Amino acid sequence: MSENIQASDPIRWGVLSTAKIGVGAVIPAIAEANNATLVAIASRDRERAETVAGAYPGTRALESYDALLADDAIEAVYIPLPNGMHVEWTIRALEAGKHVLCEKPLGITAEEVRRIQAASKKANRWVMEAFMYRFHPQIRWALEQLAAGRIGGVRMVRSSFVFDLHSRPNDIRLVGALGGGSMMDVGCYPLNLCRAVFGGPPREIAARVVVPTGSEVELTTAAVLDFGEGRLGVIDASFSLPRAFFAEIVGEHGRITLPTPYTPGRAASVVRVEIGDETV
Ligand SMILES: NC(=O)c1ccc[n+]([C@@H]2O[C@H](COP(=O)([O-])OP(=O)(O)OC[C@H]3O[C@@H](n4cnc5c(N)ncnc54)[C@H](OP(=O)(O)O)[C@@H]3O)[C@@H](O)[C@H]2O)c1
Repeated sequence: MSENIQASDPIRWGVLSTAKIGVGAVIPAIAEANNATLVAIASRDRERAETVAGAYPGTRALESYDALLADDAIEAVYIPLPNGMHVEWTIRALEAGKHVLCEKPLGITAEEVRRIQAASKKANRWVMEAFMYRFHPQIRWALEQLAAGRIGGVRMVRSSFVFDLHSRPNDIRLVGALGGGSMMDVGCYPLNLCRAVFGGPPREIAARVVVPTGSEVELTTAAVLDFGEGRLGVIDASFSLPRAFFAEIVGEHGRITLPTPYTPGRAASVVRVEIGDETV
């Protein structure tokens, strides 16, 4: 926390860009939360910033990302920029003394994330990667069942995050220079779930990717992750197949299935625990 701020004060947020995920989900959530204040939104285009900020009385529109980082009224910055811009703007925000909530994936390489870690330590400011699914009650509950030994020792996590991007040929996800590709955009979720279940990184990975002629990025990824001691993750991600979200955690005595592990939304979610003939 900044020195002159009480832990009970609402966090004063600024948002870098008018990205769809911000406008559609995170900005309304900040505005709705009673522990947050939406101070300003910055865009490369002033009109876009004004349009988005205009829906939230008292929120200012700024015409550059630099102006937002220079704004002393802002305590924390939410960064939903294209993946390839995360490292630069997260470090710049930290150096400007802001806490950061950055969209996934935090970096494109482990080296980028180490630089962010070092900058966070140096600035004494928090950085968090926006894997919101980890805070949904269904995942917390599923992880609690595992910790309680409900299905025995976990041996396998199978998970897919797949959707069809054909109708959006100009999407940032298809641009190599912006850190696109199925693994970075959606494959990072099943990978993150495997790490949450097994409690750390895999020891070895075998993967195949599909890069169609003319594509700057891989459109499909399939991987087997070896966490040692007979514990495996089997994951896939794609931009070019019919929509599918799914996770299954298989233990020695049973399994837990989550039909909407990563995008549960506000609707009720069903998590199924199967042990022998019993299903809960
Ligand atoms: N957590 C989740 O559930 C979730 C869901 C979707 C996406 N995401 C992540 O959120 C981030 C944004 O995704 P999105 O689909 O919302 O992106 P998007 O709508 O394409 O927005 C990206 C924004 O970045 C800004 N920008 C700056 N330089 C740019 C450039 N060279 N090309 C394109 N845009 C540029 C633009 O804002 P201005 O023009 O206003 O400056 C643009 O609106 C990605 O990292 C993605 O992985 C997370």
